[in-house]
Amino acid sequence: MPVIEARGVTKRYESRSETVEALADVDLAIEPGEFVAVMGPSGSGKSTLLNVLGLLDVPTEGDVYLDGEPTVRLSDRERTRARKRTIGFVFQNFYLIPTLTALENVEVPRLLDRDPRMEERAADLLRRVGLGDRLNYRPDELSGGQRQRVAIARALVNDPRLVLADEPTGNLDRETGRSVLTQFEDVCEQGVAVVAVTHDDQVIDYTDRVVNIVDGRIQ
Ligand SMILES: Nc1ncnc2c1ncn2[C@@H]1O[C@H](COP(=O)(O)OP(=O)(O)O)[C@@H](O)[C@H]1O
Ligand SMILES: [Mg+2]
Repeated sequence: MPVIEARGVTKRYESRSETVEALADVDLAIEPGEFVAVMGPSGSGKSTLLNVLGLLDVPTEGDVYLDGEPTVRLSDRERTRARKRTIGFVFQNFYLIPTLTALENVEVPRLLDRDPRMEERAADLLRRVGLGDRLNYRPDELSGGQRQRVAIARALVNDPRLVLADEPTGNLDRETGRSVLTQFEDVCEQGVAVVAVTHDDQVIDYTDRVVNIVDGRIQ
């Protein structure tokens, strides 16, 4: 069964003067452990698709199925809970907290849990992405690739089964981008699905499948 599936998803943004159809009747199913790239020109709806698959935004029409269950009718609170349980996010600009160490940044999504084992888990995740010797470094003491790997570790802290990444290599040179893509490959081998929006043509060396989107439609 797909971990996430969009069925007949249309997303419109209405403003006073115009309506933009950012997604038009999109069907897309992501299986566990799959690494999928979403490619397309600027403004084609890639980020909108990621937000809808990530339950951060709801479609205007259609539905998004998480483990086979429809999500459009969930309350905001239920949707947030489902998202936290299942989905991790990685962004182009890393969004690390500058005053916290790598270890603390990875713990952030779990701070309210006050789980005493959390520090060990965060350290394990950082070791997994090759940063075992950087646990107590702050973001400004890390390279771009290392920061993105901290962000990947943070995305994994809730044990997600789906990781959504918007231009994860967009701010990295090609070589550093490759090291980040290798991390995603490893994540997929653990059965976690990864969907990465990208302009980076080398991503397709790593992915199982490329989804092309133009004017809100999957080609
Ligand atoms: N919050 C919003 N309000 C109005 N229009 C939006 C909003 N977000 C995106 N759009 C429009 O939807 C279309 C798709 O945007 P987006 O998903 O960000 O594309 P991409 O990520 O491929 O560049 C664009 O025309 C964009 O201007
Ligand atoms: Mg975008």
